[in-house]
Amino acid sequence: MGSASEFVVVANRLPVDLETLPDGSTRWKRSPGGLVTALEPILRGKKGAWVGWPGVPDTDLGPIVEDGIELYPVRLSAQEVADYYEGFSNATLWPLYHDVIVKPVYDRSWWNAYVEVNRRFAEATSAAAAHGATVWIQDYQLQLVPKMLRMLRPDLTIGFFLHIPFPPVELFMQMPWRREIVEGLLGADLIGFHLPGGAQNFLYLARRLAGQPTSRGNVGVRSKLGVVQVGFRNVRVGAFPISIDSGQLDELSRKKSIRDRAKQIRKELGNPEKVMLGVDRLDYTKGIDVRLNAIRELLEEGRMDPAQNIMVQLATPSRERVESYIQMRGDIEQQVGRINGEFGQVGRPVVHYLHRPIPREELIAFFVAADVMLVTPLRDGMNLVAKEYVACRSDLGGALLLSEFTGAAAELRQAYQANPHDLDGVKDEMVAALTQDREAGRRRMRAMRRQVLAHDVDRWAKSFLNALARDSVAGGALLGDELKA
Ligand code: ADP
Ligand code: G6P
Repeated sequence: MGSASEFVVVANRLPVDLETLPDGSTRWKRSPGGLVTALEPILRGKKGAWVGWPGVPDTDLGPIVEDGIELYPVRLSAQEVADYYEGFSNATLWPLYHDVIVKPVYDRSWWNAYVEVNRRFAEATSAAAAHGATVWIQDYQLQLVPKMLRMLRPDLTIGFFLHIPFPPVELFMQMPWRREIVEGLLGADLIGFHLPGGAQNFLYLARRLAGQPTSRGNVGVRSKLGVVQVGFRNVRVGAFPISIDSGQLDELSRKKSIRDRAKQIRKELGNPEKVMLGVDRLDYTKGIDVRLNAIRELLEEGRMDPAQNIMVQLATPSRERVESYIQMRGDIEQQVGRINGEFGQVGRPVVHYLHRPIPREELIAFFVAADVMLVTPLRDGMNLVAKEYVACRSDLGGALLLSEFTGAAAELRQAYQANPHDLDGVKDEMVAALTQDREAGRRRMRAMRRQVLAHDVDRWAKSFLNALARDSVAGGALLGDELKA
């Protein structure tokens, strides 16, 4: 391990999770979710450090180097995992920021744990960062870290990126600790969102909340397009739609072994005419229920042939001790059982459902094998799965059914887009995708691939980090600029 780092990423999770095997030994495995998918290749290409939680409670680990990345594990107790991670992060902030799909819980003891753990992350980062280093803080679990870190280390350049949607003002105002969160974020030099709408919501809130006089005095906030003035500092706010390592996926998906595996997958499914695919963390925001309902109704109406249209749902387990996730898992598994019970045959289910993470190359083979990719979230900051599917279709085959309520919908205009709240609309678009004309499908896929291959994760990181390094006066141009690029 070297000395302090010039570039530090801070995220709730390390890119790898510590796993204990049945014989008591441990090994590292890839952490779930889009944040890690996006940032891991960036950090690998750039000498830097990553501060985060190793995914298990009560574990003391010193700094380690794993796969070329310096990791600084942050210890969380079992109580902190319950209150800060499962509680405030995933039963308060996650539902609040995703349009209140389930009701957020506001619990004061969870908030106290959130403050405490954010402070620990700020201290761990302060210890890992060299003088004058650039620190890039990630996501909703760590929104207080920018301000805490600035107080500890005014010499640092601090960026913050939110990987999930930033909610409409009316919803954000529910948050009892709304001012603290906005002020926490304003500790950064640059705050990035996926879409201009999120940036605008934040700018409005910064003016409204942090600019008000308080019993503790007015922090002196003024904002204009893309810039918030906090005392004598300028905080820039912008839209930076995240992406994937599209070149690498494109290359892998062309490998003979993967193409052969794709053929074999279709064979194992009984060589149906059409294979539909869902790939998600098992999360209520993903609208897995929406696509299952659409399929069930199409089968009931005789608009879909159960012998020729097969669906595969690959679902990574997620946040399994949070009540709303436990409930949703039960509901989805019931829906799968109901469809197969009514429309399947012995040895020929209509919906194949796996509740586990799938190895990367196997996942790519599924993307290559699928005729229609089902991406139907009720709300999603970006949705990398949609981009991964497109990157894997160098054959220009396949069709993407995409919810309008994803960040990806702003870029993937040629997808079959649907409002996930309008089940008839989803069904119609699903049928359109299943029955598309080959040439028209190729045109759509070609256009989407142009977007995804040109706007990869490397370009995303560079545009954020270049903006962070740039002089603050350029800030006004950031809002939405990247979407047009
Ligand atoms: P989120 O970050 O909310 O989980 P994204 O779609 O942005 O959603 O990113 C999910 C990432 O996790 C993608 O890289 C996707 O390939 C991966 N992933 C999702 N489901 C699985 C699965 N069942 N097995 C392996 N990887 C998965
Ligand atoms: C989303 C969030 C990430 C999170 C990931 C996996 O991508 O934006 O911050 O790491 O989901 O969720 P988990 O709770 O398992 O870390």
